[in-house]
Amino acid sequence: MEETVQHSIPRIGEKAPSFKAVTTQGEIDFPKQYEGSWVILFSHPADFTPVCTSEFMTFASMENQFAELNCKLVGLSVDGLYSHIAWLRTIKEKISYKGMKDVEVKFPLIEDITMEVAKKYGMIQPGESNTKAVRAVFIIDPKGVIRAMIYYPLSMGRNFDELYRAVQALKAADEFSIATPADWRPGDDVIVPTAGSCGVAKDRMEGKVEGVTCHDWFFCTKKLDKDTVLKAIFKK
Ligand code: BEZ
Repeated sequence: MEETVQHSIPRIGEKAPSFKAVTTQGEIDFPKQYEGSWVILFSHPADFTPVCTSEFMTFASMENQFAELNCKLVGLSVDGLYSHIAWLRTIKEKISYKGMKDVEVKFPLIEDITMEVAKKYGMIQPGESNTKAVRAVFIIDPKGVIRAMIYYPLSMGRNFDELYRAVQALKAADEFSIATPADWRPGDDVIVPTAGSCGVAKDRMEGKVEGVTCHDWFFCTKKLDKDTVLKAIFKK
């Protein structure tokens, strides 16, 4: 029986929809073959376009940084494999941009001419385009669970430092059972879980809990040393 393709947006906390696909690095079985690693699955609207080219050069230049976080990258557009190959060759051989040149995109780029994967991941958003994927990003954890999602329109290039920060923050939250405040970076104070009883709230507000600073009973932070964070999140 023919498989029905869903037009849906996956949700945070759910298993990443699975698929098999042809890529510039051979076939992949997603997310199964990425079990044990973090992975960023991201879409771009089209090969041989300027915003996408700037994004690919930036992401490829940061691939080793993400690898140090045990995080792999996988791209997708609804173009075909030969277009992908030609575009990646052009980037490496001809494009120089913001000090980046000779950039080799080593991570897989999925061909998705049928839009099967793009539709499963809500990457086709007809209000923006019926024929191109929007700029979607899915951060998926080592168990294959979607932990964060970002969608941008065609006209707007993404901030890859923010994606790097997001993976760091997700890993730190898992490692230390904390939350991270606005604009958090390793070394900044972190948020401790909200008091679960009146007694704990009172103790914290009376300064009886060592190392915890409360701005109000529901908003308490503590120091988390940068080296401690980095050591934990850079481990495999
Ligand atoms: C770009 O990457 O430059 C682009 C792609 C599709 C539509 C608009 C811009």
